[in-house]
Order: sequence, then structure tokens, then C-alpha cells
Amino acid sequence: MGNERKTVVISGGTDGMGRALALARLDRGDKVVSIGSSQEKGAVLLAEAARLGAADRVTFLRADLSSIAENARVVAEIAREHTAVDALVLCANRVNPKRVLTEDGLESTFALYYLSRYLLGHGLRALFDASAAPVVVNIAAPGVTMGAVDFDDLQTERGYGAVRAQARSGRANDLLGVAFAEQASSRARYVLYHPGFTASLGGIAHLGQPVKGIITLLAKVAARPVAEAVRPVVGMIDAPPSAPLTADDRGKLVDLGLRTFDPEAARRLARVTRRIVVARVGESPLLPVNATA
Ligand SMILES: NC(=O)c1ccc[n+]([C@@H]2O[C@H](COP(=O)([O-])OP(=O)(O)OC[C@H]3O[C@@H](n4cnc5c(N)ncnc54)[C@H](OP(=O)(O)O)[C@@H]3O)[C@@H](O)[C@H]2O)c1
Repeated sequence: MGNERKTVVISGGTDGMGRALALARLDRGDKVVSIGSSQEKGAVLLAEAARLGAADRVTFLRADLSSIAENARVVAEIAREHTAVDALVLCANRVNPKRVLTEDGLESTFALYYLSRYLLGHGLRALFDASAAPVVVNIAAPGVTMGAVDFDDLQTERGYGAVRAQARSGRANDLLGVAFAEQASSRARYVLYHPGFTASLGGIAHLGQPVKGIITLLAKVAARPVAEAVRPVVGMIDAPPSAPLTADDRGKLVDLGLRTFDPEAARRLARVTRRIVVARVGESPLLPVNATA
């Protein structure tokens, strides 16, 4: 199974870990669909793919994944071009020092780091079910217990800070994994993966100084190389875990009994998320079909 050619979709696949994964999978002979918002980064990826002799196996989709409509467009384009998706790797994220609202009126970290992952994971379910061993790898921060989903302030209207917004969406992704596995809207295995502090950091480009300088300096001395951080994910695509949900922090299994994986909170977030989407675009093929929620 490990040597089969796969079709791999990577959100945020033009920089950092997503880009490294795209190139690693292309090198193994896979087809890769890489999504990012910058045309320039997409062009660089395509040129690198061509150098690997993989120009005919790579697609770059330019999209702003913080928009619900853009997630729907991307899912439709993938479904038009591919009959199956073996792996979806979720990497897109951006750290915003100031609170930004998306075209849907949602806080941008919530929209990109959490909601897009919900929409792509559920929206591609039919294509996962056409794969022999489908897997979703959500690269976030399972095992971290800082922050919590605040059901009274999901859009962080009160006391916005970049770290707070990131931590909240990180916890929302923990709950997304729990709800995805419970709802089982596809056969895809779900993996929450924490890469540790990694020297990718494209997402801090929007931060001001001195914070950006300090993080860059720290990364030079303390961060893991990108290739090391993504190596386990390359393996998870070849051989997905058998459990419906796995949480992995740098190669160590995370205890799914942690309060950050509370099934009640996961069902509640799934219910609220459905309502958020329906209120903006109505019933959508990107929503789970058999929501317990
Ligand atoms: N690096 C770390 O130390 C670390 C630690 C723990 C967890 N993580 C998590 O690991 C994941 C990957 O991190 P990374 O450091 O590899 O990220 P990164 O280098 O910042 O890359 C982020 C990717 O997301 C894309 N992106 C940003 N905004 C987008 C948008 N609106 N629409 C579509 N694509 C968008 C970027 O491309 P464009 O700029 O072209 O849009 C880029 O391809 C993230 O979820 C992060 O939270 C990272």
C-alpha cells in the first residue's frame, strides 16, 4: 500500500510545512493539489515541482480559504478534476495581530484556522470514500491545553489578541477531530498532528516588530527543521492509523481523555458551526450529512 500513488490535497500547501509535504509527496510520485492565497508562492511551488519532473502531477489552486464561498469553489474544482482523494492535509493558517473580519463577518483566525478545516474535511467526503485508505491530517496543536473554545464569544469580539485567537482555534480543531470521527461522514481516518515549534513561520509575516524579530531569532535556535516536522505526516499518508481519531504530538500519542477533546463540547461546536454556515450560505454540500449535532 505504501508505494501506491496517491492524490493528496494540501491547504496552505505553498509555504512552510504544507509546501514541504507537497514536494515530498510529489517526489514519491503522487498527484498533489496545493491551495494558498498568494499567486507568487503558487508559481514558486509549480517551478519547484517542474524541477522534480512533476509538473503534470501538481495543481495550484489560488483561494482565500477564510471565505466560505472560496472553500466551496475549491471543493467543486477538486471534485471536477479528481475521482478520489487519499489524503487531505490541513496547514493553512495566518497570525493576525489585529482582529480582522472576513467577507462572511467572521473573525479571520476562526474562519481560516478552524472553519475552513471543517468545510474541506466534510466537503471532500465523497472523494475520500473513493479512496482505499483515506486520511485527514489536521496540523494544529493537540495536547496543548492553553485556551478554550468560548461559546459565548466564538468570534473573539472581546479582548482579541493573536495568541488568544490562535489558542482558541487550536482547541476548536481538537473538537473538530472528535466530532469528525464521531459523525463518520466518510471513512477517512482523522489525525490531529502537533509538529512542535517548527522553522516554517510563513504565517508570522503579518506580525509587527519586535515580535516578528524575536520569533525569528527563537526559531533559529530552538525550532525543528521543517523536513523533520513533516516526516511523520508523509508516513501517515502512506499508512493511515486504524483508529478513527488519533492525536499525535511529535510522534507521541496524545491522550484523547484530555478535557480538550470533550465529546459534549465537540458536539456543541459542531452544532454551532453548522448554524454559522447555514446562516451565511444555507444548506451546503460542505456540511456533514449525518450530523448528530
Ligand atoms: N510553525 C510552527 O512552529 C507551528 C507549531 C505548531 C503548529 N503549527 C501549525 O502548523 C500549520 C502549518 O504551519 P506553518 O508554520 O507551516 O505555516 P506557514 O509557513 O505560515 O504556511 C501557511 C500556509 O497557509 C497559507 N495561507 C495563509 N492564509 C491563507 C488563506 N487566507 N487562504 C489560503 N491559504 C492561506 C499560506 O499561503 P499564502 O500566504 O499564499 O496564503 C501558506 O501556504 C499551521 O496550522 C500552524 O498553526 C505550526
